Amino acid sequence: MGSLAEIIPQLRDRLPDVAPAVDALRAGLLVGVPTETVYGVAADASNPDAVARIFAAKQRPASNPLIVHTASSDDAGRLGNLGKRGEYLAEAFWPGALTIVAERIGEGRITDLVTAGLATIAIRVPAHPVMQALLIDFGSPIAAPSANRSGRISATAAEHVAADLGSDVAVILDAGPAPLGLESTIVSVVDTPRLLRPGAIVPEAIEEALGMRLAIAGRSELPEAPGMLSSHYAPSVPLRINAAAVRKGESLLAFGSNLPVGAATAVSIVNLSAEGDLVEAAANLFSSLRRLDQIGVPIAVAPIPANGLGLAINDRLRRASAPRQL
Ligand code: TXA
Ligand code: MG
Repeated sequence: MGSLAEIIPQLRDRLPDVAPAVDALRAGLLVGVPTETVYGVAADASNPDAVARIFAAKQRPASNPLIVHTASSDDAGRLGNLGKRGEYLAEAFWPGALTIVAERIGEGRITDLVTAGLATIAIRVPAHPVMQALLIDFGSPIAAPSANRSGRISATAAEHVAADLGSDVAVILDAGPAPLGLESTIVSVVDTPRLLRPGAIVPEAIEEALGMRLAIAGRSELPEAPGMLSSHYAPSVPLRINAAAVRKGESLLAFGSNLPVGAATAVSIVNLSAEGDLVEAAANLFSSLRRLDQIGVPIAVAPIPANGLGLAINDRLRRASAPRQL
């Protein structure tokens, strides 16, 4: 592709026109799309060449499968065997920030590259009006991982997509900052319901909808969510979590009004939520990491409570701080 993406803006209260994105998808090209969780890089899930472009653009290993997005739960049910439990979850959370991993059905509709050859498929019905409009007008399932280079910080704004993948996507639909800012929660219903990735929907809500406890995917059960294995969400500078004090030469990712010792000498401070609100912190997480990454000095991250959305926030920060494999 080579040239830079055309960014289709949101004008005042009017959402961006999805028609150029539909044309691009039909032509087998990639599109940057807003969802309520994070921005995705989207392709026609039935087109092997288009899906291969996602893996190439992200430099994503072909062993790491993609989420398939559909306009409705009915469409999703034609791709995966949701079963009774999956249907409860669909009823409770779709359209929304939940991805369900189910036994794959409907052979042939989705190109095998999407599922990395697994017998299961990850499916989501997103709620974002622009993504919904795109799915309806395109009329077929859309494969879309987060619109960042593999292993790096997820994209929560059109500018992030342009910065990471601008020369690989034909069009970016700009709908402003992603409202939730964290990826979907992934639950497998292949057998006992299992949390594969904490995300924008807290596990307690899922347990309530299911009327049962969720199992947590363990290290021994790999590769259940192959993308969760390695250092991920990583800025280019080192990142240190649960920092009680800021060291010389570090910038600070703060949370709440109680700043760590030495905050006054931090190279730069970004606060995820001065009020200590985890919903606000989730929405700000990836854009804050990108801002601090640009400053170019190591990042100290203040402790963040582990309850509610704090589970997913801490999960992302742990992966961001993990030793790099590069
Ligand atoms: O919020 C989201 O989920 C965003 C938006 C764009 O929908 N998408 C997203 O996709 O986060 P991605 O590719 O960055 O993360 C998808 C995760 C990966 O960890 C992948 O390994 C896992 O889902 N996954 C996909 N198919 C799977 C399957 N069949 N079984 C287990 N895990 C799967
Ligand atoms: Mg991702």
